[in-house]
Amino acid sequence: VDRLPLSYRAKLYRDTFPQFPDSWPWVETGRWLNAIWVTGNDYRGSGYYGSYPRGYLPRVLSLFPDRVRTLHVFSGSLPPRPGEVRVDLLPNPDARADVKADARHLPFGDRTFDLVLADPPYSSLDAERYGTTMPSRLAVVREIARVLEPGGYLVWLDLVRPMYRKSELEGVGLIGIVRSTNHRVRLATIFRRR
Ligand SMILES: C[S@@+](CC[C@H](N)C(=O)[O-])C[C@H]1O[C@@H](n2cnc3c(N)ncnc32)[C@H](O)[C@@H]1O
Repeated sequence: VDRLPLSYRAKLYRDTFPQFPDSWPWVETGRWLNAIWVTGNDYRGSGYYGSYPRGYLPRVLSLFPDRVRTLHVFSGSLPPRPGEVRVDLLPNPDARADVKADARHLPFGDRTFDLVLADPPYSSLDAERYGTTMPSRLAVVREIARVLEPGGYLVWLDLVRPMYRKSELEGVGLIGIVRSTNHRVRLATIFRRR
């Protein structure tokens, strides 16, 4: 029950960012949307440890203009936006959220959202910096799958491609995120709810 084909989503990105031709997604075998985004450094960013690289959010959102209910899990310093819900455990005062909750136990019913963006701690060391422990990726991915409606999307930003249940999610995209020299390279994995 996908609403728009991946090739059309890639076209929407190209139309939104004609100035970044190197970042245009390509669609392989009609099933995989791939891209590499070199975002560059941003010293005007939120300053929050591990915050989204510059331009990450507008680029991702350009792929999903049809979204109706969006959830941000591990929202950190993200500002509020209409129609979007932010969830974080809020271990430190710099984080903000609409709902304080653990990503492993989201306080929402099944099939509540059609787009979920997740930006977990990438390691135990990262988690320590937030004052949390490293949650099991599989447990969080499964919990997100529960609150996604069929045909809905999850975009998971991490240093690894997370484990998931093939009965629940279908992997449909891989976007490499390169910030600058000497920064960790991240991967946004895109899943569609079956
Ligand atoms: C990589 S940061 C997210 C940064 C965010 N993308 C931004 O741009 O500011 C990870 C966030 O996960 C939160 N967190 C850690 N463990 C969590 C858990 N089990 N449930 C919910 N949030 C958690 C931390 O408080 C931290 O804000």
